[in-house]
Amino acid sequence: MTFPTDFLWGAATSAYQVEGAVTEDGRTSSIWDVFAAMPGKTHRGETGLVAADHYWRMDEDVALMAELGLNAYRFSIAWSRVIPEGAGAVNQRGLDFYDRLVDALLARGIAPLATLFHWDLPLALEERGGWRNRATAYAFADYAEVVARRLGDRVPWWVTQNEPWCAAYLGHGSGLHAPGLHDAQAAVDAGHHLLLSHGLAMPRLRAHVAAGAQLGICLNVYPIYAADDRAETLRDVERADRFQNRWFLDPLFRGHYPDGLFEDMEAAPPPIEDGDLAIINAPLDFLAVNYYNRLVVRARGKEAELPGAAPSGYEHVSHLPDASYTAMGWEVYPQGLRAVLDRIHNDYAPAGLIVAENGAAYDDEWGDDGSIHDRERMEYLREHTHLLAEVLAQGVPLRGYFVWSLLDNFEWAEGYSKRFGLIYVDFATQRRTIKDSGRWYASFIAAQRSGHT
Ligand code: FCB
Repeated sequence: MTFPTDFLWGAATSAYQVEGAVTEDGRTSSIWDVFAAMPGKTHRGETGLVAADHYWRMDEDVALMAELGLNAYRFSIAWSRVIPEGAGAVNQRGLDFYDRLVDALLARGIAPLATLFHWDLPLALEERGGWRNRATAYAFADYAEVVARRLGDRVPWWVTQNEPWCAAYLGHGSGLHAPGLHDAQAAVDAGHHLLLSHGLAMPRLRAHVAAGAQLGICLNVYPIYAADDRAETLRDVERADRFQNRWFLDPLFRGHYPDGLFEDMEAAPPPIEDGDLAIINAPLDFLAVNYYNRLVVRARGKEAELPGAAPSGYEHVSHLPDASYTAMGWEVYPQGLRAVLDRIHNDYAPAGLIVAENGAAYDDEWGDDGSIHDRERMEYLREHTHLLAEVLAQGVPLRGYFVWSLLDNFEWAEGYSKRFGLIYVDFATQRRTIKDSGRWYASFIAAQRSGHT
């Protein structure tokens, strides 16, 4: 089985996780600058102040992508570089960086995939209620148009929102991510405005990108399995699916929220205005899916419920005998990638699909020979990519695959303690070293290109 010649073989990063240069060329703070600096929010108080210094090492990083043979690169744009106050005046110097990046990629035959929002909301907007405020959705659509006017002639792939589930729930419900609220209603309202922002941005992008450019949104979708066959557990698998997956899938593809979701979250429905769901439900060119692991769910007794915004009554089983786990504690479950793609294809039938993130954190160690023999990450990638040909053969319109991540980087609440890169970054010197997994991916891509598997 060979992949189509235009299949995207890429790697992904996001602005706050790699760029650094947080006060450079007119960039203002995002919610992540502030959150990461708050005591106790990230591993050892680490922030994205320098990160992988990609803002200054962009040329070197693009050369590394070329060395790996990537034909696509997924990056995100920092809203507060482009519109420092979140809404209003445009900072062309902030856009200049992405302009140079796009040109550098194209010069190497690497297709740019631009994500417009990967969690780094301008602080100025958070001060006006952030994603809880409907106005933020309109500000996002304006920002999307500004970016499309500058880059739309050259960027063939666009993602509006990255993992709105995380931005909504981890940001506003569990408080593990910025802005760090613990309020189920805020999570529900933020989720609606994130979806609305996507829908409002779509026609604004369409009007300014080249003909044939592909527009979509990126969701983290999990296959969910029952830990036992009790009726309560089976019911809770449905509830978990509603909360983890259908909260965002259903409005995007069916034009309504799943029944029971908000009751489970102990919240009221969000403030939906007339026409919102039609805006959200407009056709996408593709759905981008991030896949790392499956979830295994088991019902528990009422008395064990934790306070907070998660649908109560079930728990995630995280220590299965015989399973293997990454440094994030995420189960390695390659079949789940196929399950997720099949399920989305069957239940929601997007016109196209891409895997926009897949990868693993492990504790990398240097070998005596000056290399990083990250056998587990290599195995992880081998097992996951292995399934893609079968998925394609079954008629799933899969268009690309992106490893998370190109580089070791700032892993949100985990700071620099979790390394996902194909390329090792020594954060003290910013020296880059391609790991064995990166070499493996390069030869895998080369083999696909030459028609051998
Ligand atoms: C995803 C995020 C990405 C990265 C990976 C490990 O949820 O989109 O930024 O942190 O997880």
